[in-house]
Amino acid sequence: MSKSLMVTGASKGIGAATVERFFYADNEVDDFILLARESEAFSAFLDKLAADNPHGKKVTSYNIDLADRARTVGLMKDVMATHGKVDLLVNNAGYTSPMSIQQIEFADFERTIGVNLYAPFTIVQELLHNGNTFELIVNIASTAGMNGRPGWLTYSASKAAVITMSEVMKEELAIYGTRVVCISPGRCATDLRKTLAPDEDPTTIMQPEHVAGVIDMLASDVGRFVDSRNLVVRM
Ligand SMILES: NC(=O)c1ccc[n+]([C@@H]2O[C@H](COP(=O)([O-])OP(=O)(O)OC[C@H]3O[C@@H](n4cnc5c(N)ncnc54)[C@H](OP(=O)(O)O)[C@@H]3O)[C@@H](O)[C@H]2O)c1
Repeated sequence: MSKSLMVTGASKGIGAATVERFFYADNEVDDFILLARESEAFSAFLDKLAADNPHGKKVTSYNIDLADRARTVGLMKDVMATHGKVDLLVNNAGYTSPMSIQQIEFADFERTIGVNLYAPFTIVQELLHNGNTFELIVNIASTAGMNGRPGWLTYSASKAAVITMSEVMKEELAIYGTRVVCISPGRCATDLRKTLAPDEDPTTIMQPEHVAGVIDMLASDVGRFVDSRNLVVRM
């Protein structure tokens, strides 16, 4: 059976590593729906996939700012019209701008919640409205959503909400045969991590490919045996 995979935040980091993991494997996933804002990183990544496509897979990219809810709603309609279905969804895009409580600007808090919480909700809800039944939804939260650290208030609050939202999705969507898994990575060598911990040596921590491997496992035959409220992935 041929399957489609949608990944948000597909331009780099964990999102791009996840795409590569499915793209270079000889598997059933042959329709790739990749979302990110327009950037050199995203263009370079798409060029890389186009230049080396050993299994002849189809890749469609969409430039979108996921803080823009109206555009996200519209895009899900377009996606369903073009692709017909989304079997596997990885809600991966994430944003943070760490600040102390006194320095947080409310608009930035709203943006954090918009990208990290409202966007994955909107994507799932709109795809359901457009008649999609998912096989698997992976929502990427964070260990930062499980305990607080100074400066991470907006990010931690958004990720804590993703963990709980995923639990509700898991319960409600089970009747459609949809599996919903929330994963909470610990520190992983990406640009986002650099924003949170600028002085850390990225070679000493988990790499995006490791998280991608776990997502691959969740989509595999054994993935259905993982019954977790929040799967922690860390070194
Ligand atoms: N790295 C870690 O240590 C760590 C730990 C726990 C959880 N996570 C989570 O893992 C996920 C992936 O992050 P990463 O670590 O791989 O970071 P990353 O390399 O910085 O990637 C973040 C991705 O999110 C996308 N994104 C951010 N804001 C967006 C927006 N407004 N609209 C559309 N896309 C947007 C980015 O795309 P563009 O900027 O190109 O649009 C990029 O593809 C995030 O949810 C993050 O919170 C990361």
